Amino acid sequence: MSVPKTNLRPAVRFLRASHASFTSRDLDKSREFYTEVLGLLVSDEDNDTLYLRGLEERAHHSLTIKRSQDEPACLRVGMRVHDEEELERAKHTFERHGLPCRWVDEPFQGRTLHTVDVVGTPLEIVASMTHQPRRDRQVQMHKGAAARRFDHYQITVPDVHKAAVFYTSLGFRIADYMTMGEHPVGVFLHVKNTPYDLVFLERDGPAFHHYAYIVPDVQSMLRACDTMGELGWGENVEFGPGKHSVGHSYYVYVRDPDGHRVELLLPPIVYMDGDDPPSVFDVRTVKSPQVAWGLPPRASWFVHRSRFLDCEVTPSLGDGDGLTLEQYLVITDRQATGE
Ligand SMILES: [Fe+2]
Repeated sequence: MSVPKTNLRPAVRFLRASHASFTSRDLDKSREFYTEVLGLLVSDEDNDTLYLRGLEERAHHSLTIKRSQDEPACLRVGMRVHDEEELERAKHTFERHGLPCRWVDEPFQGRTLHTVDVVGTPLEIVASMTHQPRRDRQVQMHKGAAARRFDHYQITVPDVHKAAVFYTSLGFRIADYMTMGEHPVGVFLHVKNTPYDLVFLERDGPAFHHYAYIVPDVQSMLRACDTMGELGWGENVEFGPGKHSVGHSYYVYVRDPDGHRVELLLPPIVYMDGDDPPSVFDVRTVKSPQVAWGLPPRASWFVHRSRFLDCEVTPSLGDGDGLTLEQYLVITDRQATGE
């Protein structure tokens, strides 16, 4: 198995996956969900846009929600570079790959580059944002999950290997590399010192599967679920709470009022050494890559993804879906009744 090697001296140095933007058909409901369930802070808002951040974030926003009458969509996923010089280098690097780039004006952000990666993911790259006060110490302001900071996002694409080669050439390291035999079906990439910034799994795409915020502890996770139950969104607790087998962390996946999926997870393990090799495994040898214990995810967790706006989706030739809760119940029912 040949795993793409990280270019340790890339032309542009990315810092992290940092933010994302979505559309919503009901901004009031979005506001209630993100402030009461996740515990995010509203940095700014107007009639059509909501800017949110986690409790320890200095950056003005890590999540932007824009009002729309259309089917909800993910607009872009965002990444940070060190400074304006790196931003110029990012533009040249993406242009060298033949990818379209344009400068745009976005409120509360420094110079902003819109581009797309080799597998079609719409990207926004920035070096700076307006600063806001950290609120991690003001516990009297904490609600719901008390979400601390943006962590990573997951995209589905038909060609995982192509994404892995592109991002490792840009300095991203591989934490986990999932295969089916010799065929790559998942790559978990990072540039910060925790396991994930970008994750690509093999399925139709590009399409947006989920993004994640770090929460302080399991109790905060349960408080988010409790809040969803009390506010009438109990059905939107989609998968978990549980513990990943791949990923080392406790998790719960919830769907916001427009169906966009959010993962809440505990602070992950840290990658400290440059020679820490990727963990490579065949998914057929792991009982369930999603869970260390407990039940597999509902079918909706595999099937539902947010579309990217104005983005053509290419079908996947692979069979990326794992065992669903529905299938698991049929199998265990047959075993129990001896059929
Ligand atoms: Fe995740």
